Amino acid sequence: MTQLPGLLDTEAIRKDFPILDRQVHDGRKLVYLDNAATSQKPRQVLDALGEYYERYNANVHRGVHVLAEEATALYEGARDKVAEFVNAPSRDEVIFTKNASESLNLVANMLGWADEPYRVDHETEIVITEMEHHSNIVPWQLLAQRTGAKLKWFGLTDDGRLDLSNIDEIITEKTKIVSFVLVSNILGTVNPVEAIVRRAQEVGALVCIDASQAAPHMPLDVQALQADFVAFTGHKMCGPTGIGVLWGRQELLEDLPPFLGGGEMIETVSMSSSTYAPAPHKFEAGTPPIAQAVGLGAAIDYLSAIGMDKILAHEHAITEYAVKRLLEVPDLRIIGPSTAEDRGAAISFTLGDIHPHDVGQVLDEQGIAVRVGHHCARPVCLRYGIPATTRASFYLYSTPADIDALVDGLEHVRNFFG
Ligand code: ALA
Repeated sequence: MTQLPGLLDTEAIRKDFPILDRQVHDGRKLVYLDNAATSQKPRQVLDALGEYYERYNANVHRGVHVLAEEATALYEGARDKVAEFVNAPSRDEVIFTKNASESLNLVANMLGWADEPYRVDHETEIVITEMEHHSNIVPWQLLAQRTGAKLKWFGLTDDGRLDLSNIDEIITEKTKIVSFVLVSNILGTVNPVEAIVRRAQEVGALVCIDASQAAPHMPLDVQALQADFVAFTGHKMCGPTGIGVLWGRQELLEDLPPFLGGGEMIETVSMSSSTYAPAPHKFEAGTPPIAQAVGLGAAIDYLSAIGMDKILAHEHAITEYAVKRLLEVPDLRIIGPSTAEDRGAAISFTLGDIHPHDVGQVLDEQGIAVRVGHHCARPVCLRYGIPATTRASFYLYSTPADIDALVDGLEHVRNFFG
């Protein structure tokens, strides 16, 4: 078996993930390489979800009975865990949403309804990048359409990095918000946060970072990032679906208006007007995703016990090996950085002129799960003149044997299509 420096004890880790033992297509071993779409869940998270519903289920912040108090303590305890995980200065800066898309939509809507100095209007500009997931494009398009603000973006270099050569023309005195992805879900690129934040701060613009593909894979420190908002989702980091996070700087959350109205986000309500609860509750209208937050808390415990720095080192070793092996496959073109430096654990590629959907299907027949398509980042495919890519993405339980299986699988695809 291939040994690489920095690998985790995947034999032990994989025992925590029952689904990884599954067989598909009449006895083929599952090789799960679709972790950028969603990660698998360890037994510890599945148990936490089961235990929550078996022992504690109640609505939060509302009851005086034992279950309501215990459920509230578990839900708020999950907030504490998230705050510590991202090094937030205050637990009140952690807002639970249903996913990263909702977190990003929340930021866009807060700014659209805000008063000065945060208000986005027809005299201001919004900056994004060409490598954003649709969830960090469409909310800003909607906001621009609604307010008349101008939407601008950074383009891409041929090797899948941000082209910051015109940063002073893109981010200007008119810029209100710069929203960009930390690690691209399609290209794998890790973006230079510092350079973008420095320029945004020079002109007094707010910064929002989509950390959906970063939070599962590397230590995340919102204070070190110096952003104003950071969004991510639970299901890509061993947690359940239905839970996302928006971290925001406290003074901003105090000043900005709510987006969704309803129960629990208020202080008082009369028939003509309402006042709002302090953050984070101001942004959590209605019954929140309680069990999902508890599951995310268990996922954070699980990842933290292994160590995010060790997970990063493991994935770096796997990614380096994968880049090397994939580049040995004839006609394979990596879309994105073709080195393991400054890249995350998702690798997109094309294989000659075989359509990625065909590649994905033949790989699936061999038990290998990858994602094919535009990965909700269609402008990237347009930029590189391709209809779609095949994407293999790794996590803490991925092994060199998984990469070998992928490379063998691709050889089979090439033979199959002549
Ligand atoms: N954002 C997820 C992906 O990249 C769904 O596959």
